[in-house]
Amino acid sequence: MSDLQQLFDNNARWAEEITQREPDFFEKLAKQQVPEYLWIGCSDARVPANEIVGLLPGDLFVHRNVANVVLHTDLNCLSVIQYAVDVLKVKHILVTGHYGCGGVRAAMRDAQLGLIDGWLRTIRDLYYDQRDHLALFESEEERVDRLCELNVIQQVANVSHTSIVQNAWHRGQSLSVHGCIYGIKDGRWKNLNVTVSGMEQLPPQYRLRPLGQA
Ligand code: CO
Repeated sequence: MSDLQQLFDNNARWAEEITQREPDFFEKLAKQQVPEYLWIGCSDARVPANEIVGLLPGDLFVHRNVANVVLHTDLNCLSVIQYAVDVLKVKHILVTGHYGCGGVRAAMRDAQLGLIDGWLRTIRDLYYDQRDHLALFESEEERVDRLCELNVIQQVANVSHTSIVQNAWHRGQSLSVHGCIYGIKDGRWKNLNVTVSGMEQLPPQYRLRPLGQA
């Protein structure tokens, strides 16, 4: 028996269950996707986007990478954001980190892990910037968890500083960028209440005028 047989069996059962509940579910879905949400989360296997927020296929546009990092030079992540905002016109971007993130923990330690170290470098920079604040926490676990939150807050800022998001606001498009964090230990998804919904919430240094406007 194939190593993957159990997965194919699971899939057949899953598709069957959905079809029984709603016979034309997949047919309808194949015609179009109109998700209202873009999820930017960690690749961690314990943080399955749709399941956590109880959404079905079609409801959530998803980008995941190690430690939910949004870099202004990452064509992959930026392309996802651009397509989600300009074409799908999602209304909410949910930047979701999680407590106990291995990527965040790695960025706080001195062991080399390889290529991933470069990917996590901006989190190490954040760790350095916040070293006084983080030193207030007693255990490594608490420091990791706090940096997980600070990382989400930083990535919310990074998303809202993109020209993609700012141009959507210039067009009058309704778009909010939220920062949330998921607890692997309790399954709870929490709002960090750092939502950005318009230009006026950005520091002046990051505000861009519409393209072509001098
Ligand atoms: Co993680």
